[in-house]
Amino acid sequence: MVNKKIRRPIIAGNWKMFKTHLKGVKLVQEINYGLDKDLDAEVVVIPPFTALRSVKTVIEADEMKIKLGAQNMHYMSEGPFTGEISPVMLKALNVEYVIIGHSERRQYFDETDELINKKLKKALDVNINPILCVGEPLKIRELGRQKQYVREQLNNCLEGLNKDYIQNIVIAYEPIWAIGTGKTATPEDADFMISFIRQRISRLFSPIISEKIRIQYGGSVKPFNVVPIMVQPEIDGVLVGGASLNAQDFISIINYKKRLKK
Ligand code: 13P
Repeated sequence: MVNKKIRRPIIAGNWKMFKTHLKGVKLVQEINYGLDKDLDAEVVVIPPFTALRSVKTVIEADEMKIKLGAQNMHYMSEGPFTGEISPVMLKALNVEYVIIGHSERRQYFDETDELINKKLKKALDVNINPILCVGEPLKIRELGRQKQYVREQLNNCLEGLNKDYIQNIVIAYEPIWAIGTGKTATPEDADFMISFIRQRISRLFSPIISEKIRIQYGGSVKPFNVVPIMVQPEIDGVLVGGASLNAQDFISIINYKKRLKK
């Protein structure tokens, strides 16, 4: 049994293609205002590229504990790749996390495990912590083949990664059928899959690494369902989409521990 206490919870808000930089500044200020003073979780906001600079400026100016993440990056430092953003550019903005392989990128922008593998290696190279997303589509879940599917994703995406840096990766288990649909995996189901992912990390790397690596759940996380998700032994955090766009909802998710004590 893994001791969850050694892993600091990580609660991240993926803003997707929402919020101008002006609205992003307002949102991060509102979130900061609502944070528990004795909060032990790591909180990350992940705005679109155009808002990164402005959001970071207010995070720094107000000395917020909130960290900054990006939603994607290219795997090269620079080059003739019109419309792309380099990890070096993100690093220069003090971006600490980057989502790699979100299902929306896989689905709508044809990102493959091979490309995701290159991006992961590069993010680790430039010292940005990747949040690697994995998760099965509905068809696969209906066939009961989610374990095989996620195992394949992990094998391919993590291929050849340096053992020394692997624990800087956060993995997000996001079953595609639960994203933006209002359907969540049951907390026990999510915990089961996350436990499976941890076992795979143990096999691929080492048991020690598997105990240190943080694994989140994502898919229709809301204030009303966050507590049963976060109390699961294997779940170290949540990656929130829709509910992270509303300050009150996101604060209520971040401060879930308040409701545990009651
Ligand atoms: P929702 O919380 O809107 O379902 O989105 C989840 C997600 O994709 C986070 O990356």
